[in-house]
Amino acid sequence: MKPGKNNEEVVHYWDSNPIHSIEFGPIEDITEYCRLVDDVRWDEHERWAEKGFLDFGGDPGAKLLDAGCGIGVFTRYYSKKGYEVSAIDITPKAVEIAQSSLEALGLKGDVRQGSVEKIPFEDNQFDYVCCNGVIHHTGDTEKAAAEILRVLKPGGRAMISVYYRNFLLTKRFFPLMKTTLSILIRKSKLEGREKFLRAETPEDFVRIYDGDDTPIANLYNRAEGDHLFADYKILAAEPHYFPIRFFKFFKVGGLVHWALDRYCGTLIYYLLEKPA
Ligand SMILES: C[S@@+](CC[C@H](N)C(=O)[O-])C[C@H]1O[C@@H](n2cnc3c(N)ncnc32)[C@H](O)[C@@H]1O
Repeated sequence: MKPGKNNEEVVHYWDSNPIHSIEFGPIEDITEYCRLVDDVRWDEHERWAEKGFLDFGGDPGAKLLDAGCGIGVFTRYYSKKGYEVSAIDITPKAVEIAQSSLEALGLKGDVRQGSVEKIPFEDNQFDYVCCNGVIHHTGDTEKAAAEILRVLKPGGRAMISVYYRNFLLTKRFFPLMKTTLSILIRKSKLEGREKFLRAETPEDFVRIYDGDDTPIANLYNRAEGDHLFADYKILAAEPHYFPIRFFKFFKVGGLVHWALDRYCGTLIYYLLEKPA
C-alpha cells in the first residue's frame, strides 16, 4: 500500500501518535492498556451509539471490516461478538498494536496495513463495515466513502462517523462555547486542556482535539454529511461522542452526559446500507 501524497503527513502523525496515546501514555502492558481504553470508550463514548449504530446485530461469522482501526477498540469488540473480523489502518504502529492486542486477549482477526482510500479487498466482500472517526482525517474523504461502498455486499451495512458541526461549532455559537469551556476548564482544573482555547475556528478546534499537529480534520454539517453518503441508503444519523470525563463534576452516564452526547456530540454517526 502506498498512501497518496496528501497522506504522508497523515501516516507520520498517526504513526507517532496512535489514538489515545496522548491521554493514556505509552503502552507497558498491552492487556491492561486495552482494558483501560476499551472501558473508557464503551462506558463513556459509545454508551448511546452502541445500540442502533455500532451493534449491527449480525450472525456470528458475518464478515466485518474495521476500517481505520487505530489501536483496535472496535476490532476487539466485533471479534468478541464472533464476527469474522478484518481490520486495516494506514499506519504500521496501529496495525502492530491492534494485532498484538488480539493475540494477547486470545481473539481472532486479520489486521493489515491499508488505506480507506484504496481498501485492499475485492468488491462486495463484507456484511458490515465500521469506520469510526477516520475518513475526516484522510486526504480524499469522498474516495474513502466510495471505497467502503465498493467492499460492502449489496444490502450490507456500514457505520461511518465524521466530525459533526453541532450548533456549538457554528460561527454564531463558537465564541460562547469557548467562553463556557474556559470556565469549565478552570473549574475542573483541566491541565493541558487550555490548548482548546487557542482554537480560533471550529475547524481548528476539532483538529486540536486529536493533537496540536493533526494534519487533517474535516468538519461536516448534516447536509454535507448526507451529501458525502449520497450513494448509500441512509438508515439513521445521530450525533454522539462527548468526552464528559474531562469535566469532573458531571457524571459519566448521567442526564447531562446524555444530553451533551445527543445534542453536542462531536461526531455524527451514520448507519448506512449499500443499495441492493
Ligand atoms: C481517531 S483514530 C480512530 C481509530 C479507531 N477507528 C477508533 O475509533 O478507535 C483515526 C485513525 O484513522 C487512521 N487513518 C487515517 N487516515 C487513514 C486512511 N486513509 N486509511 C486508513 N486509516 C487511516 C489513523 O492512522 C488512526 O489510527
